Amino acid sequence: MSILLTGGTGFIGSHTAVELLQSNQDVVIVDDLSNSAASVVDRIEAITGKRPVFYQADVADKAAMKKVFSENSIDAVIHFAGFKAVGESVRIPIAYYRNNLDTTLTLLETMKEFGCHRFIFSSSATVYGTSDKVPFTEDAKELGCTNPYGWTKFMIEQILKDAALADPELSVVLLRYFNPIGAHESGMIGEKPNGIPNNLMPYITQVAAGIRDHLSVFGDDYPTHDGTGVRDYIHVVDLAKGHVAAYNYSTSHTGCEIFNLGTGIGYSVLDIVHAFEEANHLKIPYEIAPRRAGDIATCYASTEKASRVLGWKAEKSLEDMCRDSWNWQCGKWAK
Ligand code: UFG
Repeated sequence: MSILLTGGTGFIGSHTAVELLQSNQDVVIVDDLSNSAASVVDRIEAITGKRPVFYQADVADKAAMKKVFSENSIDAVIHFAGFKAVGESVRIPIAYYRNNLDTTLTLLETMKEFGCHRFIFSSSATVYGTSDKVPFTEDAKELGCTNPYGWTKFMIEQILKDAALADPELSVVLLRYFNPIGAHESGMIGEKPNGIPNNLMPYITQVAAGIRDHLSVFGDDYPTHDGTGVRDYIHVVDLAKGHVAAYNYSTSHTGCEIFNLGTGIGYSVLDIVHAFEEANHLKIPYEIAPRRAGDIATCYASTEKASRVLGWKAEKSLEDMCRDSWNWQCGKWAK
């Protein structure tokens, strides 16, 4: 039996493939390579000594998905594939809704046809919307999202909740990620943003590498300990291990369950800058800039449910995250 990873050559997908292979699971990856490279499959093999089965295909292509399911015995699906740039989603919302919803619906239909009953979904803390009642618990009232990307996550969660209600055999696990950073300690897989990075850590590593001259810190007048935005940064390897725990959970449960994957600790933008400087012995020039539209002051997870039910907890430190992010940026694969 194999676990299908859609988007398995992407940032979180590739790290999850490594963790699953290292826990002796067979992995099949489907990725259209629109935001990743085929060589990631070789690198996953170099790290683990095992090669995942790979298909270059669009998850919304029903015929391609039928081929994948008929050529492999798929026991569970972890659905990472999707468009994920917040700003871009505001400019081209229809493409976001079409792609992110279509891929999910195609997967659900194909799974039903082939008798596959376990679905783990890459959701996001973005579904908590603009609430400032931290820490976010899984039962918090969702207040709606601030951009189409977030709404696709919100809508897919709803689709999956309904699917689980209608099908007593189905097991759905919704994983709400906080802010994944870091990279595999080998330096062979990591996050490679397209163009100018939107997210904080890839921006910092590009400033450190001399690709950008300074970091703009978006706002220093938030009600936080130093005025800059606070987030829950989680090492991508810890996040990947959370998927292994979710997969194990889904083998013995049906219905739909939601879990936050975060550390439960909030760090400000300036905390991250200073931790990065200390861990890597370099300076990050920065300037205070106006607030970024759509940002909230503080966002961090309640980790109680994931720890109690999945037996999973993030283990890596902020220093590990800063060191591994920089190690990845310095290697040849980030170029
Ligand atoms: N920030 C800067 N300068 C930058 C980039 C970011 O100061 O150049 C600040 C932001 O204002 C924010 C913090 O760094 O305070 C983190 O910003 P990111 O863009 O790295 O992450 P977000 O928390 O905005 O967004 C992330 C994911 C989204 C997801 C969201 C869920 O990127 O996909 O978390 O809460 F929807």
